[in-house]
Amino acid sequence: MVDVVLDMIKDVGRWEVDSGKDAFSQVAESISVCDETREKGGSVGWVDRFGSERPTDAVFPASGVDLLYGKGLLKPGDVHNVETSAGFHVVQVLDVQTDLRSSIRQPSPKLKGGGYSTRTSGNENPTTYTLQTNGCQMNVADSERLRTQLQSSGLSEVEKKPDVVVVNTCSIRDHAEQKLYDYLGPFAKRKREGDPVTIVVTGCVAQQEGESLIRRVPEVDLVVGPQYINRVGDLLEDVKNGYQIVATDPTLISEDQARPVRDDPFRAWVPVINGCNEHCSYCVVPNTRGVEQSRTLNAIVGEMRDLKENGYKEITLLGQNIDAYGRDLKPKSNFADLLKVADGVGLDRVRYVTSHPRYFSDKVVDAVRDLKSVCEQFHLPPQAGSDSVLSNMRRGYTFDSYMRIVRRIKDRCGDDAGITGDIIVGFPGETEEDFQRTLDLLEAVKYDNLNAFAYSPRPYTDAALASEQVDEDVKADRLQRVQRLAVKHGMERSERYLGREVEVLVEGRNKKVTQEEECMGKTRQGRQVFFEGDVDELIGKLVFVKIDEARPWSLRGTLVNVK
Ligand code: SAH
Ligand code: SF4
Ligand code: F3S
Repeated sequence: MVDVVLDMIKDVGRWEVDSGKDAFSQVAESISVCDETREKGGSVGWVDRFGSERPTDAVFPASGVDLLYGKGLLKPGDVHNVETSAGFHVVQVLDVQTDLRSSIRQPSPKLKGGGYSTRTSGNENPTTYTLQTNGCQMNVADSERLRTQLQSSGLSEVEKKPDVVVVNTCSIRDHAEQKLYDYLGPFAKRKREGDPVTIVVTGCVAQQEGESLIRRVPEVDLVVGPQYINRVGDLLEDVKNGYQIVATDPTLISEDQARPVRDDPFRAWVPVINGCNEHCSYCVVPNTRGVEQSRTLNAIVGEMRDLKENGYKEITLLGQNIDAYGRDLKPKSNFADLLKVADGVGLDRVRYVTSHPRYFSDKVVDAVRDLKSVCEQFHLPPQAGSDSVLSNMRRGYTFDSYMRIVRRIKDRCGDDAGITGDIIVGFPGETEEDFQRTLDLLEAVKYDNLNAFAYSPRPYTDAALASEQVDEDVKADRLQRVQRLAVKHGMERSERYLGREVEVLVEGRNKKVTQEEECMGKTRQGRQVFFEGDVDELIGKLVFVKIDEARPWSLRGTLVNVK
């Protein structure tokens, strides 16, 4: 029975798009022999093993709850088969809430015993906060969730003299990590001088450093890893009571109980998979964000529908390795199916980052080609061109296999599809010959946009321990050469738009000019476009712009009409 149900709900794209109802409810409504389950689309509400929130016997008997917990660690999305005296129950877990205190206090090898200690400091009656965000889109999305937590704790955002300062940190390169200490300095000083500001450090440096962050900057009150972002409200309560807390033990991420307070009214970030199971030898992310945890299709669809109802035009699905989406779910799902479901929501534009060349599938290329809202932009970071460097990076592909993907994209989606990437120069052991292969790769692909970085040795990564580190001046020279070539290709890619009319979603003002009426937006392929127009009237709208000037990373044109 459970196999039949699994097969039916695996076909989730079709179920979701056709009816607007999630697959599990539909299966429950169509095949359940229990009247009540059929009427409620399978819903039984929250069940608490030891507490009072037990479901009514008719829907799911108490003995079933115990059996369900007996299945081991329950994860959101899991489907289990439970047999009680009332018959067979196929149960889908939608979300799991863990007890915050027990998960933080549990001794972990890293923390050497609990994360709580008492002391007196921090602000006992805070009313204001500031929030500083560094790092990638995932951190930006986390900051929007942090804002929800802070505001529901009764705090309002101010620019100066906050009672609570929150820094959401990045550790991808050393420079990013150092930003934290530069930023914290003045607040730590203020606190030492007797002003009881509460200092909260969240994000990837928080996770990486844990307790040692408090040893280094004792004025810090709260250290919060990315998996605890939606618990910050409760943790702040404990800080008010004089605790100094480190919340970094691995935990299951539960769904947020309230929507993020978003920065933009038309474009939204939607995280779909947290963490990363890869072992790229240079990268801190698997250590800072933990193992992969996909959000359930139901949760993602619910968020996308809310966005659509609230006038959003574009969403960007987020994951460090988005092609891994769904492989930890039970039943498994995959990223191409998620794209189908996302398209069915009816937003104007769906984007996503980041694809991994090792896992990138043909199905995703076809989904981009076939689905109306999914934009023809592929962010597919190669990192390097030399096969031996790629192998030392543990990326799991070669120059040739990477190029096969690029050709497939061009064959199926046309040359107009945007391809963007990231490059690391000066990885340990990279010779001039290896580096030439990176330049060869750039020539072969001609990226629309390229981010290039000098390799930065990071804590707890293998590459940092390699003996053949490349000199900083060699890295700087290679970085310049990559950037020069990237600008040339960027310009070539921009020139293809000359004379064409392109669809642009207006994002706002051109911040670089003081002139009021310069709009900025992006093409479907992700190219920035500037044009004269009434920003207040056009913001959030799709317009057509005729392109008359090409620059390496942007275009300029004339407004033709509003869609
Ligand atoms: N998950 C994505 C992005 C990871 S971080 C991916 O797999 O591509 C974003 C970029 O930072 C990476 O693509 C890489 O180019 C760069 N990066 C990561 N670690 C780095 C390091 N130690 N030094 C320099 N650049 C690094
Ligand atoms: Fe880092 Fe590699 Fe994971 Fe990307 S795929 S986040 S580079 S470990
Ligand atoms: Fe930085 Fe963490 Fe993102 S290290 S790049 S904020 S995943």
